[in-house]
Amino acid sequence: MCGIVGFTGARETAPLLLEGLKRLEYRGYDSAGIAVMGDQVIQVEKVSGKVQKLSDKTDGGAAVPGCTGIGHTRWATHGAPTDLNAHPHLSNDGRFAVVHNGIIENFAELREELIAAGYTFQSETDTEVIVHLLESFDGGDLKTTVMRTVARLEGSYALGVLCSDKPDTLYAVKEASPLILGVGIGENYFASDVTALVSYTKNAIYLDDGDFAELTPAGITVFDSTGKKIEKPVSRITWTVEAAEKGGYDHFMLKEIMEQPAAVRAAIAPRVKDGEVHLDEFDLSPEELKQFNKIVITACGSAYYAGCAAKYALESLCRIPTEVVLASELRYGEPLIDSHTLLIVISQSGETADTIAAMKECRSRGAKALAIVNVVESTIAKLADWTLYTWAGPEIAVATTKGYTTQLAVLFLLAMSMGRKLGTLDDDRYPALLYDILRLPKLIQNAIDLNHGIPALAKKYHKSPSLFFIGRNTDWAVALEGALKMKEISYIHAESYAAGELKHGTIALIEEGTPVIAVCCNEHLVDKTISNIVEVKARGARVLAVALRGNHKIVSQANDVIFIPEINTLFSPILAVIPMQLLAYHVAKENGCDIDKPKNLAKSVTVE
Ligand code: G6P
Repeated sequence: MCGIVGFTGARETAPLLLEGLKRLEYRGYDSAGIAVMGDQVIQVEKVSGKVQKLSDKTDGGAAVPGCTGIGHTRWATHGAPTDLNAHPHLSNDGRFAVVHNGIIENFAELREELIAAGYTFQSETDTEVIVHLLESFDGGDLKTTVMRTVARLEGSYALGVLCSDKPDTLYAVKEASPLILGVGIGENYFASDVTALVSYTKNAIYLDDGDFAELTPAGITVFDSTGKKIEKPVSRITWTVEAAEKGGYDHFMLKEIMEQPAAVRAAIAPRVKDGEVHLDEFDLSPEELKQFNKIVITACGSAYYAGCAAKYALESLCRIPTEVVLASELRYGEPLIDSHTLLIVISQSGETADTIAAMKECRSRGAKALAIVNVVESTIAKLADWTLYTWAGPEIAVATTKGYTTQLAVLFLLAMSMGRKLGTLDDDRYPALLYDILRLPKLIQNAIDLNHGIPALAKKYHKSPSLFFIGRNTDWAVALEGALKMKEISYIHAESYAAGELKHGTIALIEEGTPVIAVCCNEHLVDKTISNIVEVKARGARVLAVALRGNHKIVSQANDVIFIPEINTLFSPILAVIPMQLLAYHVAKENGCDIDKPKNLAKSVTVE
């Protein structure tokens, strides 16, 4: 969702802000703007639409001269995506400009107050109250003005503030929304995430909620919420510029699909030593693990489906009842959670608002939280009792691929590690699982290689108005993710059903030519799913089956078959999802969709 950048230094800032905004495009947005400190006055340029439009409007930034500025990509919440609602917002006297990510929950009351005090509003946004508050509290000292303003705000906000009284100074404020400072030489930066910083610096300061910072070309000073100066460590950014670029692929999504063998290797290899799984970041003793009588997994989107797929491994290998609950549901429920619950929180970005809220709710009930997260130092990673990073590298395409498979890899390792310590994973089963987990990167590569026929299949299926994905048990979990991938990027209606449930309703929707994607990779249940294939075919369905290589029975039953390498059932989702990703990708490509930035969706959903 919204992206923020800020720059102060000796270089022209507008081109740098535009480049930073381009790197944040993947977060999802519908308008863009910049504010630059010019000769005594702040110049604001904003447009509804793409960063490229803003770049064209400003002649690549040349029309907005100055060395200190802020920029923003907006994902509309309060008010339509119009030029006026785009950020930055300017105070009535033109001396303050603000960009904001998050939601100001008490904006209506503040707006009324400010209108009564004579301030004029240009937009329908919640953000605009901030800039008028800054003007109303202005007493000459910018730090005090920012603090007094922030004291009135309720909700979530990452802010970038520019004031013409201090032309080379920026303020950055973080509360429940991501904001990272970049430390340069003779110049400093802030951004919503490190992808916008990597071209300029490898040194970052991660703010905690309540922190704010003053940036000048000469340095960065960080303060806590009381205004006390605090020392923050400078961390090294491990992501590279190349990793955040397409590298010859047509789309980030395809690049990220192809990166999965390496990403899964990075997640697994350092954690298996001498034939045992070692999770140093979650190194609990058997006695400590035995305190948990229940596992609750919470997440949103694909991360939730990774939880659905991993539940089977956790229950099978650890024998602990495992519930998977959508974060947006869990946060408002009355979950039966206490200090004997192990909460597993899954999130690629580590910033998903509902997931954070669910995590806080469960922790307030005594649960201990283990986070499985990709983005280092993200909010979820910081809130957790333990964090296992997935080490997938930057994921830019909105529709997750390597984010999901690395989550699965870490969850499988977790199930194996806990199972060993609890004594529920015995020596009979362990060697085969260890063999399979170590082979996963290679098997994923095989699954990609086996799928060269998918572009041709996409041509058969891309015009269908509706697709059904079916499977049982682990296969159903993959079917859920497959349907999500398809609807996210191709905009085709796609639904997933537990194959055994078909006859309780969904089968009524099957007619001549209806495509059904049947996942048949669970070796224990494949015959059952074949029966369902027969049922839907009898009603006219055209069936595309995803099956383990060597399953010849399926060839005579399905219209088309995609094979994946053989693997034990518990780990099969990590391979079965590969054709789902490729099918969605190629169908979307056939349909000319904006694959990396699908309409209405955002990569990092930082509002409820
Ligand atoms: C958005 C993304 C999905 C992602 C979900 C959860 O909907 O488009 O790809 O699965 O958010 O995000 P998280 O960062 O918490 O994994």
